[in-house]
Amino acid sequence: DFVPVILAGGSGTRFWPRSRKARAKQVLALSGEETMIQQTVERLRPLAQDSTFLVITNDLLAETIGKQLPNVPAARILREPAARNTAPACLLAAAILAKSNPQTVLGIFPSDHVVLDDAKFVERMQQAIQVAAAGENIVVLGAPPTRPETGYGYIEEGVAVSFGSEPFEVHAVRRFTEKPDFAHARKFLSAGNYTWNSGMFLWSAQTLINAFREHCNSMLAPILAIADAFGTPDFDRVFAEQYPTVENISIDFAILESRSFKGEGKSNIYCLPADFGWNDLGSWSALHEHHLQHIQDIGNNNVVESSSTLQLDASGNYVYAPGLTVALLGVKDLVVVQTDDALLVTTRAHSQEVGRVVKELVKHA
Ligand code: GDD
Ligand code: MG
Repeated sequence: DFVPVILAGGSGTRFWPRSRKARAKQVLALSGEETMIQQTVERLRPLAQDSTFLVITNDLLAETIGKQLPNVPAARILREPAARNTAPACLLAAAILAKSNPQTVLGIFPSDHVVLDDAKFVERMQQAIQVAAAGENIVVLGAPPTRPETGYGYIEEGVAVSFGSEPFEVHAVRRFTEKPDFAHARKFLSAGNYTWNSGMFLWSAQTLINAFREHCNSMLAPILAIADAFGTPDFDRVFAEQYPTVENISIDFAILESRSFKGEGKSNIYCLPADFGWNDLGSWSALHEHHLQHIQDIGNNNVVESSSTLQLDASGNYVYAPGLTVALLGVKDLVVVQTDDALLVTTRAHSQEVGRVVKELVKHA
C-alpha cells in the first residue's frame, strides 16, 4: 500500500499580497490554472486514488482545500487544532495508517512546490516506494544546489547502492543538515556531494513510528491517542486536547537530522535524485524565473492576467494585475502585485523579504 500524505498547514508570507492567512500559497494558482495543492494531487494520481490521500491542514484553510479537492473525503482532511510544525503531522499520519497496516508506505509531500516533469516524478516515486517498502528505510529526494541557500536542508550523499530487480541507484545519506548557516551552506555547495532536500519523505508507517520512538519519544503517547480516536465520535475532542501539548518541531530537525548523526550505513536514510524540475517557488522572483524558463517567454517580462500589456525598454519585471492594462516603461527587475485591497511594489532582489512587510502590517494593524 502507498498513501500520499499532503502537508498543507503552512502559512507563508512571501507571496503577500496574494497570500493571506486563509489564502496561503498552497491554495493559490501561482503557476498555471490549478492551485498548488491541486497540482500536487494531480501529479500523484498515477500512484494513488484521491480517496486514499490524507491531507493535514488547519481550520483556516480546510474549507478551501475541501472545495479544491472534491474527491478527497472530508474525513481525510485533518484540521490541526494548533500549528505544531511538520513532525507531529507526519507522526499522526503514520499512526492513523498503521492501525490498518503498519507496512503502509507513506509519502510525505509539501503542497506548495512545482514539478515540471510529472512522468519522471512518478518514475522516481515508484523507485522510492520500493526502497521504503524493502525495510526500515527512509527515502529523501535531493536536488542539485545552485546557490548557498540557507532556507533548505542539505543532504550529504555517501556511497551508491544498486537497488531493485530493474536496478537503479540510490545514495546512502551520510548526514542531513537542516537550514545551515551561510558559511556551511557555501561549504556544502562547493563540496559537490551535497543536494538540497526537496521536502518529500517516503517510509513505512512502522519505520516512521520507530524513528519517533528513538528521537522524539515524548510525542508518541499524545499522537497515538489521537490516532486511536480517528474515525470515532471522540476524534475532535481528543485531537483538540492532545495536539496542542506536543512539541512544535519540523520533521527535518526532529528525525532526519538526529538520525543522520548515526553515520553512513547506520542511518538507513537513502537519497534519490529530485531530477524532475522541482522548485519550491520561495519568492516572487523565483516564480518569475520559473515562468520565464518554462511557461512563457514574453520579452523577459512576466505580466500575469492583465488585459493587455505594453512593454517599452523594460526587462525582468514580474507584474500581476488581473484585468488591467499594464504599461512598462524604462523599468527593470521590479515586482508589482495588485489585489483588491493591496499593492506591492518591490524589486526582484528584495522579494525574499516580503515577509517583513507582513510583519510590519501586523504590528500596525
Ligand atoms: N499540517 C501542517 N502543519 N503542515 C505544515 C505545518 C504545520 O504546522 N507547517 C508547515 N507545513 C507544510 C507547509 O504547508 C509545506 O507544504 C510543508 O509543510 C513544508 O513546510 P515549510 O514550512 O514550507 O518548510 P520549509 O520550506 O521551511 O523547509 C522544508 O522544505 C525545504 C524545501 O522546500 C524542509 O523540509 C527543508 O529541509 C527543505 O529543504
Ligand atoms: Mg517551504
